Amino acid sequence: MRTQVAIIGAGPAGMLLAHLLRRADVDAVVLETRSQEYVASRIRAGILEQSSVDLLTSAGLGDRLRAEGFPHRGIYLQWPGERHHLDFVDLIGRSVWVYGQTEVQKDLVNANTASVVYEVSDVQVHNVDSSAPYVTYLDAEGRPGRIDASAIAGCDGSFGPSRAVVPASVATTWERTYPYSWLGILADVAPSTDELIYAWHPHGFALHSMRSPSVSRLYLQVPNGTSAGDWSDQRIWDELATRLGHGQDGWKLTPGPVTDKSVLPMRSFVQTPMRYGRLFLAGDAAHIVPPTGAKGLNLAIADVALLAPALTALLRNNDPALADRYGDDASRRVWRCTHFSWWMTTMLHIGDDPFDAQLQLSQLRWVTGSEAGAAGLAENYAGLPIGF
Ligand code: APR
Ligand code: PHB
Repeated sequence: MRTQVAIIGAGPAGMLLAHLLRRADVDAVVLETRSQEYVASRIRAGILEQSSVDLLTSAGLGDRLRAEGFPHRGIYLQWPGERHHLDFVDLIGRSVWVYGQTEVQKDLVNANTASVVYEVSDVQVHNVDSSAPYVTYLDAEGRPGRIDASAIAGCDGSFGPSRAVVPASVATTWERTYPYSWLGILADVAPSTDELIYAWHPHGFALHSMRSPSVSRLYLQVPNGTSAGDWSDQRIWDELATRLGHGQDGWKLTPGPVTDKSVLPMRSFVQTPMRYGRLFLAGDAAHIVPPTGAKGLNLAIADVALLAPALTALLRNNDPALADRYGDDASRRVWRCTHFSWWMTTMLHIGDDPFDAQLQLSQLRWVTGSEAGAAGLAENYAGLPIGF
């Protein structure tokens, strides 16, 4: 089979890239190891920056988002005895939207613009340092397949094979693992808050997020190695109530039936360059952020917003200028979001050093008490423009 761009991975990065390329009359084929149902049902983050919403809207994917998503003006930051609202719209004139990655994925599948081969295995990338790269794989029945392309997009997430195609002599990686994880639950109960609550607490961080008026998403900081089975629903709700300040100034956390429970590791990872010959990396394939601040999905969208026009200019007009800049342009934003995610994470999670805890409280007081401090958080959280 021959196409212009072979895309590895049908997550949001790969599917959005295929969609944007199709709209620009560039052919693409997407290879995905999992089934369509599995990809569609994975529970992931739920916050879209303004620039992500604008991009999805301009790509014709904004109708359900605007009908069913929820614009949020800001967030709450709190510690025992104090809760502060940061109003991003007042501070920097931009907002964020609550709309799950699962919903973005559904919109991409329903747009029906990508030709996807699901349930492939043994995906291998060849000849990316030539102008005739290709990908080989086995289809769902185990039959060998080959896709010849002019470019290959590695959108295969944190465990995919693409990033390893860049030779070790060329690639640089940076990594930070954190000494804690998140225990996340999805619950069939109306959120107890109008906007997200990020809570610092001596027991550990807690976050109250949401998916809809009847579905809440909540997280607790837990030690690495925690198994979700160690935490009964009752224990989770009790701990959330303590950390989120149930009873503080009359606020109440309403518990409800837990429909999903899982433990998420926290990691920062960056690999550069994001382009090697005819291979272009995008999304989690090139970088991973800890979930605090909800940057993962937005970064994947921002990468693709740069990559689609770069590939279009390269393959339709034989103009390599944007493709040559892709790695540097995308990496600059990656590092901004890597820093912000690290900063939010280290400001809010409890470690074992009481000195750190005092620094965190001082920083929280500054971020909530100074307009300049608040605006810095708001600007990064609501997202800098895609070209930043
Ligand atoms: N061949 C084909 N597909 C693969 C392979 C492979 N060898 N390995 C992995 N994949 C697929 C995965 O099954 C997954 O569907 O690549 C896809 C990658 O999708 P995501 O993990 O969702 O990554 P990305 O599209 O970059 O989106 C980033 O996902 O992890 C979250 O926080 C992150 O929200 C962010 C978003
Ligand atoms: C989520 O809703 O899953 C979520 C929201 C905000 C975050 C992280 C996760 O910072």
